[in-house]
Amino acid sequence: MEELARRFGTPLYIYSYQTLIDHFMKLKTALRQLNPLVCYSVKANSNLAILRALVDKGAGLDIVSGGELFRALKVGCPPEKIVYASVGKTASEIEEAIRRGILFFNVESLPELANINQIAKRLNRRASVSIRINPDVEPATHKFITTGKITNKFGIDFNTAYKIFLIGLNFSNIDILGLHIHIGSQITSSAPFVSAIRKLAGFIRRLQARGIKIEYLNIGGGLGIVYDKETPQTAEKFAAKIIPLLENTGLKIILEPGRFIVGNAGILVTRVLYVKSTPKKKFVIVDAGMNDLIRPALYDAYHQILPIRYTLNAIRSSEKVDVVGPICESADFLAKARKIPRVKEGDYLAVMSAGAYGFSMSSNYNSRKKAEEVMVVGNKTFIIRKRETYNDLIRNELIPPFLLSI
Ligand code: LLP
Repeated sequence: MEELARRFGTPLYIYSYQTLIDHFMKLKTALRQLNPLVCYSVKANSNLAILRALVDKGAGLDIVSGGELFRALKVGCPPEKIVYASVGKTASEIEEAIRRGILFFNVESLPELANINQIAKRLNRRASVSIRINPDVEPATHKFITTGKITNKFGIDFNTAYKIFLIGLNFSNIDILGLHIHIGSQITSSAPFVSAIRKLAGFIRRLQARGIKIEYLNIGGGLGIVYDKETPQTAEKFAAKIIPLLENTGLKIILEPGRFIVGNAGILVTRVLYVKSTPKKKFVIVDAGMNDLIRPALYDAYHQILPIRYTLNAIRSSEKVDVVGPICESADFLAKARKIPRVKEGDYLAVMSAGAYGFSMSSNYNSRKKAEEVMVVGNKTFIIRKRETYNDLIRNELIPPFLLSI
């Protein structure tokens, strides 16, 4: 890690190809009885190399925007393995997805369904959709990443969905193929999944009683990983709970995991710039900020922080510090009151479990260049995203001529 940090500079995202594929295969293997289509959730980490690696192993992709569709097609994902969620799909995004022939849209409201129908009609095509249900379950995770409560903006309640199925025939250019749920993220136990799937099963029976057939069931993503002391379900344990609910239903099963696949396949390496002692606290100031990894600032999320190299002495003199970035915000921290081995200027720190929602949520705030990303494959390392340059920062900016003439 130290060698890579020296070679490529910091802040640096490092991903392990092996771990990435391992996590994907673990899920595939555990659920093999259901033969599911695993659509990796692009938002977790949308780097082309990550997407390509997974698509190459047979993954489909879960997308939420025209930009993600662009990436999915760029890496050669077969359109019939792409599912598209989002409460706010625009007309041009919908049109592009219909033209490309994606598997289906996960529809999140009645007006959206009407809009998709209109667009399909204009294009003289048929559009396939699944109805995203809001099953109103409590996933016991951070409130910002809870999506399946009835007070969340996502999905459609059972009663409205029922009505949609009954009037579905009025939508001339739409085929309603399935149901979709995604109840939240970083869910560490199977109970919320089980309760949501049970509710769906009841709903499917209600539909069947009216002669409505469902082909697909998309159970979303949300499987939690280890950041700190969590003991999340393994793929095997998850499978043991949900297979009995889904086998012999004749439904084609889809999953949309993001974090489970890529979260622990990546770390962020940063360098200590200064160690600053104040009357109250000690700050370890590093060269990665909230623009590189916003999870601690946004969700108070815990990421383990390990010095890449340390002595026994440094462990013995571990101390409580705030690990902070260079950005002009007090929310710019990677860890607060964290006991870590003593570090000094120039040391490298690894911010663990940073593969998911790390780089993909990064920004240029404070005119900081986005970090470089590399992928380790066996004993080789490949740059998968070059560090940005200052010119990248201003590439799309224009000064109106009248200001230039002054
Ligand atoms: N499917 C849908 C419709 C989603 O909205 C999401 C995530 C996923 C799948 C993948 O969820 P996963 O398996 O990764 O939990 N930025 C937050 C997480 C936001 C998740 C948004 N939706 C974080 O850093 O914790």
